[in-house]
Amino acid sequence: ENGWFTDVYMYQGFWYTSMSILSVETIMALQDTFKALPSDIYLATMPKSGTTWLKALMFALVNRNQYKKNDLLDHPLLVSNPHVCIPFIEIEIFKNTPTYGDVYSPRLFSTHIPYTSLPQSILDSGCRLVYLCRNPKDILVSTFHFANTIRDKSHRPLTFEEAFESFSKGIMPYVGPYWDHVKGYHKVSLEHPETVLFLTYEDLKIDTVNIVKRLAKFLGYPFTEKEEAEGVVQGIIELCTFENLSEVGKHGKFREDIPNDAFFRKGKVGDWTNHLTNEMSHSIDEITKEKFNGMNLSFPY
Ligand code: A3P
Repeated sequence: ENGWFTDVYMYQGFWYTSMSILSVETIMALQDTFKALPSDIYLATMPKSGTTWLKALMFALVNRNQYKKNDLLDHPLLVSNPHVCIPFIEIEIFKNTPTYGDVYSPRLFSTHIPYTSLPQSILDSGCRLVYLCRNPKDILVSTFHFANTIRDKSHRPLTFEEAFESFSKGIMPYVGPYWDHVKGYHKVSLEHPETVLFLTYEDLKIDTVNIVKRLAKFLGYPFTEKEEAEGVVQGIIELCTFENLSEVGKHGKFREDIPNDAFFRKGKVGDWTNHLTNEMSHSIDEITKEKFNGMNLSFPY
């Protein structure tokens, strides 16, 4: 009735909805045509995990030598949305001339596709993949706001109760269940820590410097002592702050249907306390406890 959760179907263990660009057809088209390179770098996330922020950080640190301090005014992150700098493979494939990040080397991509449905070419290439996870309650709140911001205005807004019910059942506007998405990448990060790095939004918030250093090392672009002494790490973090990125994000659109500023709302940990009732919170805690059992994964809410 509200247009969000009509035509829901399951593919390879995940729910998709007809309103989303991510569909079984997209996954199959990528499976057939996408060619990953061993030097590629991928960022995988559930929507609203902080993808935009980590895209900016990854782009800035990998390309830091092209854009030294003096040239900062030309920095792509100061003129365009991070989603333009690091494209989603599932969106790029529908363009007449997909660029797949060919402009930059190494190629940087992102995706919301669950691990088990990734194109075989990515899995076979041995390339590096970063997964960013965020606590389920803030994901729910962020998704609820995002969905209503970009909604087709012929549909009435989604109520928070509806968003909660749907999230709990594992159905999200793009892909779900949240828990299975996280579990898939978490498992492979333990099995292959050299190719999959598992990070959380909460850690990135609390311990930005150390996480960015860890990320740089994992991606093969470690900071030298000289760079650290010169404040290069700090410079990258400042370039990618919520304030800075959202200021740039005021201009233009990342996609025809999505204004840039839709990707910047509050950028905080724990906004769920303003939305969830105790009962809702408890219910999500219970599902999370059961689904993440034995994973040694907890979030500082
Ligand atoms: P909130 O809705 O809780 O504010 P994604 O990029 O995966 O779509 O996630 C969007 C969420 O990340 C939004 O969360 C947004 O505000 C937050 N975000 C965007 N840029 C950020 C930044 N530079 N630092 C911290 N959070 C950021």
